[in-house]
Amino acid sequence: MNPAHLHDVIKARKTIKVLGSPEAPTRISDQVAEVNDAVVREAVQTAGMAPFHYARSKDLAEPWRAYHLWNEDTNSLALYLQNELGVQTKEPKLLAACGSVVLITWLPQHPFSQQEKQRKIEEEHIAATSAMTQNLLLLLTAHGLGNYWSSGGILRSPELFEKLGIPVEERLMGAIFVEYPEATNPNHECKPGALRNQRSLKWIKELAL
Ligand SMILES: Cc1cc2nc3c(=O)[nH]c(=O)nc-3n(C[C@H](O)[C@H](O)[C@H](O)COP(=O)(O)O)c2cc1C
Repeated sequence: MNPAHLHDVIKARKTIKVLGSPEAPTRISDQVAEVNDAVVREAVQTAGMAPFHYARSKDLAEPWRAYHLWNEDTNSLALYLQNELGVQTKEPKLLAACGSVVLITWLPQHPFSQQEKQRKIEEEHIAATSAMTQNLLLLLTAHGLGNYWSSGGILRSPELFEKLGIPVEERLMGAIFVEYPEATNPNHECKPGALRNQRSLKWIKELAL
């Protein structure tokens, strides 16, 4: 293992928000889909090697779940959101431009508890799912696939969970929009992360006793 490679990948990861048009969505050829979908599938599996502190259940211990939406379905969903639900936010455009989407959820265990021990468990489920999500972003970056961790907007609503078949008790950690390099469209609008250039490193302190 070369630690420098990992440093490079972490520094190379960046938010890229690609906005297309639901009426003229990105269409991925079977060949391009086959290669890239396989990369995304494997990246999600490897991302699941993230640490987690509490087993959620005996047969499905991890606190996270991942749901793939491949290109045909992202395109259909883009049109559905725009035309049927009249969604005006950026999700239909993001769905129309991307190669695929991974919806990452986590499973609350003590959703409304104020008890410190149970709140800690919830926080650590979220922490573990965040680690899994960042693993995924790094793997996609290393494979040359553009990516964007979005809160999800309309995609996090119970109505959309029901439509997509995601249990409504799960919470969306992020909608990960994945760009396939072969499908890059110069006509698409690309936006960087709003806070990209606000990194300070002022959050590091040396402690001494
Ligand atoms: C939990 C989480 C949710 C995010 N949700 C959004 C979002 O809904 N919209 C958005 O524009 N960016 C979102 N971002 C991306 C941030 O805007 C981005 O990471 C930040 O601007 C820094 O840019 P960089 O990722 O290129 O370093 C989210 C990031 C995280 C960690």
